[in-house]
Amino acid sequence: MSKVALVTGGSRGIGAAISVALKAAGYVVAANYAGNDEAAAKFSTETGIKTWKWNVADYEASAAGIAAIEAELGPISVVVANAGITRDAPFHKMTPDQWKQVIDTNLTGVFNTVHPVWPGMRERKFGRVVVISSINGQKGQFAQVNYAATKAGDLGIIKSLAQEGARFNITANAVCPGYIATEMVMAVPEKVRESIIAQIPAGRLGEPEEIARCVAFLASDDAGFITGSTISANGGQFFV
Ligand code: CAA
Repeated sequence: MSKVALVTGGSRGIGAAISVALKAAGYVVAANYAGNDEAAAKFSTETGIKTWKWNVADYEASAAGIAAIEAELGPISVVVANAGITRDAPFHKMTPDQWKQVIDTNLTGVFNTVHPVWPGMRERKFGRVVVISSINGQKGQFAQVNYAATKAGDLGIIKSLAQEGARFNITANAVCPGYIATEMVMAVPEKVRESIIAQIPAGRLGEPEEIARCVAFLASDDAGFITGSTISANGGQFFV
């Protein structure tokens, strides 16, 4: 029987590349998305990967979506918590709403995604949890107090899950992408983006597929002894 992988935010950007890479690796992939129906439909048509709509910030919706996927496809053995948003603003201008939206989606969203699949992984004594963090959770970023807090929080989550999951053969790891050529990075003002690229020793933005390959490795049997770890893929911009 094929293994089932869930990728949140899996129909666009880095998430879409992860969905495609996991499908190529032999998984039946369920790609979650929150709102962009048109992009999700286009993604499904192009890739043959079915999409499922819910907001990861909502626990009940996440639990219901995951139950529906498992009823249709079978137990989820790989979960990739990738869905994330930015609401950038210098701290003195950041509103409580900008703080809350990012915390709810990026951090609580990880809890809401992993928590419903965790009991089944424990029962079946197998699981792969991969959380997409960020270089900006490692080094902080001007105008991203909210986002950096969530991405640093991801690293605490996987290190704790790694300790709880190990005896059940469940691994939990993070990937910290640097600046990748996605809509999220393209939304940064051009002048700022150019100054960021100038700080990347590789001299370019990363490609979504370069992150997807890290995830496919962490999901694979080859990575069975790797847990609580972080793969940084940032073109040399920052070393932990
Ligand atoms: N470092 C230091 N200073 C900076 C800065 C930086 N990185 N970015 C902006 N500033 C300065 C500006 O030069 C400006 O200075 P002055 O007041 O002296 O002119 C000041 O900070 C900001 O000016 P404003 O108050 O007008 O800023 P604003 O309210 O218009 O906000 C911004 C602008 C939201 C900060 C915008 O510049 C921006 O989006 N910056 C990019 C932030 C960023 O890198 N986000 C990452 C997105 S990609 C991502 O998140 C994916 C991932 O995981 C890597």
